[in-house]
Amino acid sequence: MEVALAKRAARLSAPAHPDTGDAISFDSGFAFPGIFPDLTEAARRALNEYRSEALQYGPPFGLPEMREWISAYMRNEGADVASEDVLVVNGAKNGLELICRLLAEEGDTVVVTAPMYFTAIPILRSFGLSFLEVRQDDEGLDVDELLEKLEVRRLHGQKVPKFIYDVPDFHNPSGITMSRRRRERLLALAAAFEIPVVEDSPYRVLRFEGLTEPSLKSLDREGIVLALGTFSKLMAPGLRVGWIAGERPLLARMARLKSDGGTCPLTQRIILEFVKDGGLERHLQGARRAYAMHRDHMVAALRRELPDVAFRVPHGGYYLWLEFPEGTDSARVAERAHHIGASVIAGDAFFAGEGADSAKGRGVAKRYIRMAYSHATPEEIDEGVRILAAAYGAAKVAR
Ligand SMILES: Cc1ncc(COP(=O)(O)O)c(C=O)c1O
Repeated sequence: MEVALAKRAARLSAPAHPDTGDAISFDSGFAFPGIFPDLTEAARRALNEYRSEALQYGPPFGLPEMREWISAYMRNEGADVASEDVLVVNGAKNGLELICRLLAEEGDTVVVTAPMYFTAIPILRSFGLSFLEVRQDDEGLDVDELLEKLEVRRLHGQKVPKFIYDVPDFHNPSGITMSRRRRERLLALAAAFEIPVVEDSPYRVLRFEGLTEPSLKSLDREGIVLALGTFSKLMAPGLRVGWIAGERPLLARMARLKSDGGTCPLTQRIILEFVKDGGLERHLQGARRAYAMHRDHMVAALRRELPDVAFRVPHGGYYLWLEFPEGTDSARVAERAHHIGASVIAGDAFFAGEGADSAKGRGVAKRYIRMAYSHATPEEIDEGVRILAAAYGAAKVAR
C-alpha cells in the first residue's frame, strides 16, 4: 500500500547515513566508547532511593533539582539563568524541534551557516523553513554578509527570518570557534532586526587548549538567545537529556508543546546522582584527554597521508573539516572510501541551501569531507586515513 505522507515528511530525502557495516567510522559524531562513564552506582541509587519519582511521569519542565543544576552550570559560565529559565528536553535536537514548533511557520526562513550541522537540516526543513546561508571565516559566522543579506530582504519586502541557528564553539563541521567580538556583533545585529538566536553549543566543554569565549547566552542583554544544552557530549549521547534556556513565556509554550509526558525522570536522576560528587569533572578531564589525543593522531595521519588536503586544527570538539584541491568530487572519494573500509561524510550533506546561488549549487561543497576523530581508536584512525588517501588517489586518477 502506498501511504500518503504529510508534506513535512515527504519533503525529506531518505536517511543521510549509508549503512557503515564494518567500515572504520569517521562519519557520525559518536562518543568514544572507551570513555563512557560508569553509571552503575548512580543508577542503583536512582532506583533505590528515588523509585517513586524515577518511575513516575516526569514534571513537564524537568526535575526541579535538574533545572537547578543546569542553571548553576550556566551561571558558572556567566549566563544569568535561574532554574525557572530552564526547560529539560530529550537532547539538543529535541530542543531545536521544540523551538521550531514554537516559532516556525511553513515558508519562514532560518539563518544558518554554510556549512552547518547536518542533522539539523531535516528538522528545520520538516517545518517548511527555507535557509538563508551565511558563510563563516576564522572568527565564525560572517556578520557583514548576514547584514547585507538581511538588508536585501528588507529592500525586497521579504519577511525577517524567524531565527538564527549557530554552533559558536567548535562548530560542527568546520571546527571554528566564534570570536568574542563577532559574538557581540551578531547579538547586536540580531537585536536590531529582532531575530532570536538559537545557540547550540554541545562541544563547548570539550576544549583541549586555549581560552573559552563567552557563550552567546552570557552576552545576551535583550533576552533574544535560546540556548540549547545537552548531556550527550557532557556525559553520553544515549542518555537523551538536554535543555533549553530562555525567556520564561517561551519555555511555558514549549512545555505545552512537549508531547513526551516529561523527559525521563529516571535518566535525569541518574545524571544528578552522577554529577553530585564531582563525577562529571573527573569524567570530562578524561574525555578531553582522550579526544585531544584522537585529534592529534588524526592530524598527524592526515599530514602524512594526504599532504594536499587543507584543514584547521580545532582546539576542541569532535571534527576536522577537510578541504580537497579544486576539482575533487568528495562524494566520489567518500563512496570509494566506504567501499574499501572507511566511512566519511562528503561536503554536500552540510549545506542546506538549494538552487543555483547556494553553496551547494555553486559546487563549493564538493571539495569538503568531514572527519570525526571522536569514535575510532588511534589504530583505526591510522588505518582509516590510509584508506581515505587511497580512495582520494583512485578518484584523482579517474578524473
Ligand atoms: C551541533 C550539534 N548539536 C547537537 C548535537 C547533539 O544533540 P543531542 O543532544 O540531541 O544528542 C550534536 C551532536 O552531534 C551536534 O553536533
